[in-house]
Amino acid sequence: PGSLMSVNDLSLEGLNHVLRRATELTAQDPLERMRLFAKRRVALLFYESSTRTRTSFELAAKALGCDTTLVSNLSSSIEKGESLKDTGLTIRALGAETIILRHNASGAPWLLEQYTHLPVLNAGDGMHEHPTQALLDLRTMLAHLRGGATEVGPETLKGVTVSITGDILHSRVARSNMLLLPRLGAEVVLCGPKELLPEVAVTAGPGVRIERDFEPALKQSHVVMMLRIQAERLAGLQLDLEEYKRAYQLTGDRLHAFAPEAIVLHPGPIIRGLEITAGVADGPQSKILEQVSNGVAIRMAVVERALSATSKGGRA
Ligand code: CP
Repeated sequence: PGSLMSVNDLSLEGLNHVLRRATELTAQDPLERMRLFAKRRVALLFYESSTRTRTSFELAAKALGCDTTLVSNLSSSIEKGESLKDTGLTIRALGAETIILRHNASGAPWLLEQYTHLPVLNAGDGMHEHPTQALLDLRTMLAHLRGGATEVGPETLKGVTVSITGDILHSRVARSNMLLLPRLGAEVVLCGPKELLPEVAVTAGPGVRIERDFEPALKQSHVVMMLRIQAERLAGLQLDLEEYKRAYQLTGDRLHAFAPEAIVLHPGPIIRGLEITAGVADGPQSKILEQVSNGVAIRMAVVERALSATSKGGRA
């Protein structure tokens, strides 16, 4: 209880609870909010680089009054070869009551929960899932398309098409969104070249389909979500970047011609001039920085959910 490894860990009721608490906690008086979980201990365990997720989880936990500590693979005994199990047990022995984990291996959060019996919040595991990113994406979509609704159901996003374009193959953000959005009635259109979106490798469930060409995908989109090419996971795959840009770069001209009313999202980090032009990233349709702000709101709600599942200093 209290862990969040996959968007599928949240029932509709759980999802509504998180969305509602994200809004309530954001509106709450900061001093009052800091008394909610004063001095509770939250550890951030990061095996991969992060700016948005790490900072917003830390700010979220601090906004609830928690003490936080960061263990990063680059400045800890992980560099000396300490295992995930021993690192987790050490962090628990130091008093952590919840662990926020980013790891390069898919499934690592499940192992950590098994070893530590603490609530684990998945801050991105390999090419698998990034559930809080999908939740903050949803909050951003609801703000623009559904008047900031905090109650959702199977038809809330009926009639909404979300295109996700780019490196789908390596994207945990795409997977979490593919799992979450169709549950609320949205249609997800995946777009990209075969190298980054191989038909056999993508689990396309109900409400998810592939549209190989960018302009038809844009034409259908109410939400245009762009993804970075994950150079760190390409493993020798050679891509002609000029050809990629010609076919898939989100330019001002394309957006104006094919999706003039859509909102533009990107989980970040963005690579200006590759998958998206600077003009689009900074333009009026871009809600990228709103996504970042929504990350703090959503992460306050999931940290609260995790800590509420444990007694102070106790186990889940
Ligand atoms: N969206 C996201 O996960 O960004 P970071 O890698 O900077 O945390």
